[in-house]
Amino acid sequence: MVQKNPQISIIVPTYNESQNIVNILKSIRENVPKGISTQTIVVDDNSPDGTGKIVEDYISNIKKITENTIDVIHRKAKNGLSSAILNGIQNAKAETIVVMDSDFSHPPQIIPKMIETFKQYQCDLVVASRYITGGNIQGWTTKRKLMSKIATIIAKKGLDVKTKDPMSGFFAFKKNIIQELNFDALGYKFLLELLVKTKGINVKEIPYTFENRQFGSSKLDSSTIIDYFKSVWKLYRHGKIQATNEKRNSVRFFSKAARFFTVGASGFLVNYLVSMLFTAGLADFWYIHANIFGIMASITSNFVLNKIWTFEDRDFSRKKTLSQFGKFSMFSSLGALVQLGMVFWLVDSHDVSYPLALISAIATAAFSNFILNKKLTFKEKLWN
Ligand code: GDD
Ligand code: MN
Repeated sequence: MVQKNPQISIIVPTYNESQNIVNILKSIRENVPKGISTQTIVVDDNSPDGTGKIVEDYISNIKKITENTIDVIHRKAKNGLSSAILNGIQNAKAETIVVMDSDFSHPPQIIPKMIETFKQYQCDLVVASRYITGGNIQGWTTKRKLMSKIATIIAKKGLDVKTKDPMSGFFAFKKNIIQELNFDALGYKFLLELLVKTKGINVKEIPYTFENRQFGSSKLDSSTIIDYFKSVWKLYRHGKIQATNEKRNSVRFFSKAARFFTVGASGFLVNYLVSMLFTAGLADFWYIHANIFGIMASITSNFVLNKIWTFEDRDFSRKKTLSQFGKFSMFSSLGALVQLGMVFWLVDSHDVSYPLALISAIATAAFSNFILNKKLTFKEKLWN
């Protein structure tokens, strides 16, 4: 039986939430509108109070509803809220992802409103917001409120974020907006990183009241605050890189092109060695067969080197890598054809000398290969 993907994945990070976790899971289930399938993902960091085990027991005791599943990710140690969220996202099967706390500060009653907002506004990201009309905070000390305000101002001024509550930990988004992104997932503020790295998406804020927890205690401490500044600094530099001027773009363009050509030259060597090895060394193949191996070996080594080194793409998930390899091989074959055609055309109908024709043809094929792979295989902008 083919299992259909759920419509919504709900990510709930936990650290020492034994008094809250079962109730929040129940409340989430009660508040998700009927007919919507969900996958709730609890990300627990080996909580000393046994939260992870409590969730396991809860799952095995409740009546299984195939429409609403619960998964637990057990991580080895307390690794921070943002990284727990990222871990949850990596395991989310649905196209729409909700992120929320486990301590009832984020009322599950807001989830249906988030779903409604996606429908109504066709947006990519819904932020549950304390700082728009109708939003509020209950139960926080003045000091904590002030800290939150300062952090918000820093984010808005420093990182040019337009969202009124970029510090919110309660939000929902469409998975496709994070496709090509890499996250640092430092500290507490995953949403802020998401907002900075996805400029141009359609964001909608809806009001809610943050209520301070009744059970357990906040995990926010001085190291969280230090992480916040580190993360803002990193995002600030990221933002600057996005807005680089022409000169820096061109430097990067040419340094990538240089890497691509270097890899090409190394491929020439691989091709030669493998072809020789299969006619004289390892095996005694017909030279044409040996050369086919040589060509395949060099395309493969070129692909791997360009992926890792030239385009600095470390994502080796199978589907993506295979599709990239398919495109890369196709462009390589295309390049070979272009090269042959051009040599023939130059020598035969323009009386160009063979060495000169060869050099121009190789350069043309290599350059167009670079452009095609940059744009289509590794999905980069042309000019950066
Ligand atoms: N897995 C994991 N690992 N979970 C964590 C970690 C961690 O290192 N640190 C915190 N959590 C979980 C908690 O168990 C809780 O469910 C949630 O993350 C939020 O942690 P709290 O410690 O309760 O946060 P808070 O109430 O101080 O902070 C709130 O305010 C921010 C808005 O200013 C949270 O709601 C944040 O999400 C929100 O951004
Ligand atoms: Mn809390």
